[in-house]
Order: sequence, then C-alpha cells, then structure tokens
Amino acid sequence: MKSSKKIIIAIDGYSSTGKSTLAKHLAKEIGYVYVDTGAMYRAVTLYAMNHGFIDEGHFDRQELIANLDQINLHFKFNADLGYSEVFLNGKNVEKQIRSMAVSNMVSKVASISEIREKLVEQQHEIAKDKGIVMDGRDIGTVVFPDAELKIFMTASAEQRAGRRYKEMIDDGVEISYESVLENVNSRDLLDTTRSDSPLVKAADAIEIDNSDLNVQQTFEKAMALVVEALNK
Ligand code: DC
Repeated sequence: MKSSKKIIIAIDGYSSTGKSTLAKHLAKEIGYVYVDTGAMYRAVTLYAMNHGFIDEGHFDRQELIANLDQINLHFKFNADLGYSEVFLNGKNVEKQIRSMAVSNMVSKVASISEIREKLVEQQHEIAKDKGIVMDGRDIGTVVFPDAELKIFMTASAEQRAGRRYKEMIDDGVEISYESVLENVNSRDLLDTTRSDSPLVKAADAIEIDNSDLNVQQTFEKAMALVVEALNK
C-alpha cells in the first residue's frame, strides 16, 4: 500500500519491544523512510568510547560535549537490506553500535541535553518533508509532539530480554540471559528517570503491548492504525 498522504509516524517505547522491526515493516509497506533514532545515540556513544571519553568506570561528559561538532552522522539507504544504515564520520557503524558494550553505555550518553539537542535538530531536518516512520523514546513527546500517529510499545521485561537474548545467541554472541535481563532493566530505569526527555507515553499515543503478540500480529495491529491515520 503506497499512500500519497505524507504523515509522521512516531513509535516510542521500551527497549527490545520490537520498535525497529515494526517501524521498518510499516515504512516498507507504505513507502516511507524509516529513521532509527536509537542508532544515532548509539553512534555518539561509539564515538565517545573510541575517543576514551567513556568506559565502564568513567565518563568525561564535558570532553564529549566539547567535541560534539566533530561528530557527523548520516543515514544511507541500503537497497539489499531495505533500510538505511548509520554512518559515523563517513564510516558504516551499523554493526558496531549493536554491541553489548555500546548497549551498556548508551543510556548515560543519551541523558546529556547537549547531545539530545543536536540529534533532535537533525531528526527535524530529516523529517521536514514528512513521509517518515521514526522510532525512539521521545519522538511523540518531544521531537514530534504533533505527529499524526503515535504508537507506544510495551512488553514485559522478561519477554523483551528473552527476545534480545535469542537474537544475540543467533548472532553468535556469547552471553547469559541474566545479563541481558539486567541490561533491559537498567536501561528501562535510566530511560524513564532521566530529567531530559524521559521515556513516557504521550497522552495521545496508542499503546501496543506485544508480550503475547508475534511480529506479524504486532504489524497487523499497527498497520490498522496507520490506515486509519492516513484516511483521516
Ligand atoms: O532503541 P535503542 O535500544 O537502539 O536505543 C538506544 C538508547 O538510546 C536507549 O537506551 C535510549 C536512547 N534513546 C533515546 O534516549 N532517545 C531516542 N529517541 C532513542 C534512543
């Protein structure tokens, strides 16, 4: 289904609720551009790690903030994959930003207002012509409070950790379920309690709890909302 009407679809929610899977699927179905804002926060985290600004034991916020204009992010569409990959200073970092090391540190980086300001500005620029499905934590609340459709995704922490664990094992990563669950829980806490743009459901967002839904069922539920929004 291709639609000539261009809207903004904001998909927010907890980590590992399948936001990006859903967003990619919806974008493909209606011929929209998918924007993964988590990838942007992850790429900044990777930059901070590569430059020694952050590791398990320390975080030099001021140094990272002072170097923000050295960070250039862009997305490039990969026709084989059917979605855009993120580039950090000209280098494709799509794989590196999914590592457990980045996952463990990204919430700290994402709590810094100067970084959020820079990335939100870029998100506005990317979406200026609409026709966008954007996923993240603050898309329906802060980035696009007037988005025509807002979806908020939830699922139990155990279900989410189980899915992430399976994905990682399938990718050949050696990891325990317990450490994945711990990462899910600590990210939930940091994401929902930070002072700048915490993860909250927008008043006008429609919640989808997919604890007991598979990928296809989640897609069908969301697609019905998209059709409704496009026909408004
Ligand atoms: O969706 P994800 O797991 O790739 O996101 C990585 C982190 O980035 C997540 O812990 C919260 C943060 N994030 C954010 O603060 N705001 C967004 N719009 C997207 C992600």
